[in-house]
Amino acid sequence: MELDTILRTYRRYARNYDRYFGPILQPGRRSIVERLRCRAGERILEVGVGTGLSLPLYPGGVHVVGIDISAEMLAQAHARLVHEHLAHRVSLVRMDAERMAFADDSFDKVVAMYVVSVVPDPVRLVQEMRRVCRPGGQLYIVNHFLSPYPAIALLERAAAPLSGLLGFRPNLCLEEFIARTRLQVVERTRVNAFGLWTLLRADNDKAAPAGPSV
Ligand SMILES: C[S@@+](CC[C@H](N)C(=O)[O-])C[C@H]1O[C@@H](n2cnc3c(N)ncnc32)[C@H](O)[C@@H]1O
Repeated sequence: MELDTILRTYRRYARNYDRYFGPILQPGRRSIVERLRCRAGERILEVGVGTGLSLPLYPGGVHVVGIDISAEMLAQAHARLVHEHLAHRVSLVRMDAERMAFADDSFDKVVAMYVVSVVPDPVRLVQEMRRVCRPGGQLYIVNHFLSPYPAIALLERAAAPLSGLLGFRPNLCLEEFIARTRLQVVERTRVNAFGLWTLLRADNDKAAPAGPSV
């Protein structure tokens, strides 16, 4: 996915995104926030926050920073903050998650919900997530990966040329993603309908270098 394709696709999606991808992907968002076991005073970064469907799920007492590259998706998230009275504990910033302006070790936990197969370079995204997360912090990812079932994987590979239209790459391989990012995965759980999405929880081991792009 190229950045200008992403911008165009999510500009198109923004107004109806919640209708298409709200309830169907909400169990995965909920599972991540439950696993965060948020403690008062923690700083959480959510990359690719989109329209902010996860934001009402975070408990009070933590400060959440949400970033996204799409101004139109962020506009929807801003409207949600106002509507749900969340503005005092959530900040939204337009920023490229592959080149974040935050200093090293700025956050306790870093979250990516349905984003790693959208960005141009998933390995670079994870490198940046690791950089801005403090040592000993944790990284949380939920995403669709290439199916382990050959017939479904065949369809997903065939759909790959439509990534720009779909808004994500349907053929990102989980094992390759973990190998290239060198994520220290401590939990891997299937979530959402038919377990078609995967939740990953990883320790932020700063020492492990990332490999080449997926
Ligand atoms: C499939 S949506 C997921 C939105 C939200 N996390 C959710 O749970 O619905 C992917 C989001 O990632 C954003 N995105 C894609 N590439 C990005 C990048 N390089 N930096 C920041 N956000 C990006 C898109 O604009 C879009 O809002």
